[in-house]
Amino acid sequence: MADLSIELAGLRLANPLLSASGTFGHGVEMTPLVSFESLGGWVSKTVTAQPRAGNAMPRIHETAAGFLNSIGLENKGIDHYQEATLPSVLAERARHPHTIVVTNLGGHTAEEFAQLAQRLDEVEGIDAFEINLSCPNVDGGKLPYSTDPARAEEVMAGVRRVTQKPLFAKVSPNVTRVDEIAKGCEAGGADAITACNTLLGMAVDWRRGRPRLATGAGGYSGAGVMPVALRCAWQCAQAVAIPIIGCGGIRSAEDVMEFVAVGCAAVQVGTASFSDPSCLARMGQELSDLLDREGGRPLSEWVGTLEVPPQTPWRQTQERQTPGC
Ligand SMILES: Cc1cc2nc3c(=O)[nH]c(=O)nc-3n(C[C@H](O)[C@H](O)[C@H](O)COP(=O)(O)O)c2cc1C
Repeated sequence: MADLSIELAGLRLANPLLSASGTFGHGVEMTPLVSFESLGGWVSKTVTAQPRAGNAMPRIHETAAGFLNSIGLENKGIDHYQEATLPSVLAERARHPHTIVVTNLGGHTAEEFAQLAQRLDEVEGIDAFEINLSCPNVDGGKLPYSTDPARAEEVMAGVRRVTQKPLFAKVSPNVTRVDEIAKGCEAGGADAITACNTLLGMAVDWRRGRPRLATGAGGYSGAGVMPVALRCAWQCAQAVAIPIIGCGGIRSAEDVMEFVAVGCAAVQVGTASFSDPSCLARMGQELSDLLDREGGRPLSEWVGTLEVPPQTPWRQTQERQTPGC
C-alpha cells in the first residue's frame, strides 16, 4: 500500500487530508460519520475572542457548482471553545498521535490574533494554529489582512512572537497576486500557507429583486472554485519555501493529486463534506488505491511534480510583473 503519511511544518500526519475550517463542525461532531484517525488533521471553525452570532439569514445558498455562504464566523468565543469543545477533541488526539489538531483563529486586529494564540499556546494537543486572514464575511468583505502583504506579515509576526506552535496562514483568492501575500506571511513567520479561503460571489432572486444572501455577497466554495484555488496554490508554491495546504473544491482523490502536483504537501476539504460527510475517509482510501495503481510511490514523491516550461506565456507574464502592478 502506498505511503500516504506526510511531514507538515515539523508535524507527522497519517495522510494529507485535513478538514477545512467551518465545514466539519467545531469539535468532534463528525466522529459518528468519520473516525478521527482517518484524517490527517482536524481544523476547528474559526475561534474569535468574543462570541459571534454571525450574519443575518439567509446565509447559505446552493449554486450549480458549490455554495455561497455568509455565515460570518458564528462561534461561541474562545472561553467556550477552551472549556467545552477542546477537551473531547484533545481526548481523541491523545489516542491518535498522527491526526493533528489545528485551531483556526480570527481577529479584528493584529493584537487580537496574537492574544488568541497566546491564550491557547500552552494547550498541549493543539498542534498548530491556522490564522484566518481571509474571511470575506466580516467587515463587509474588506479583507484587510489578506489583500496587503505588509499587513499579512504584521499579523503573522505578532502571532509568531507569542507561540512556537506551527502557524498556517490562510490566504484569500480575492487578490491579484496571492503569491505576494504568501511571501508576506512567510516573512512574518508562517510555517505553511493554506490556499485558499472562499471566493467573493453572489446570487440574486431577480423576481423579488433581492440578493440570495442577506449580506448581499458572500464566500463561494465547492466544485466551481477548484481551478481558481489550484492556480492560487500553484502561485504560492512557486513563491515561498514553506509548505502549501491546498483548499478549494476538492471532491476526489484525483482532485487531491492535482493539488499535490502543483506543490501542495497537504489539502483541506470543506464543501464536499456537506453532501457526503464521510467523503474525507473515502478519499483516503481512494488516494491509497490510486497511488497503488500508479506504481505505489509514496505520496510525498508526487509533491510538486508539475512541470511548466519556463517559456510558458502565463508564467513569463507573472515573472515580469512587479508587486503592486
Ligand atoms: C459554510 C462554510 C463555513 C466556513 N467557515 C469558515 C471559517 O469559520 N473559517 C475559515 O477559515 N474558513 C471557513 N470556510 C472556508 C473553508 O474552510 C474553505 O476554505 C472553503 O470553503 C474552500 O474549500 P471547499 O471548496 O472545499 O469548501 C467556510 C466555508 C463554508 C462553506
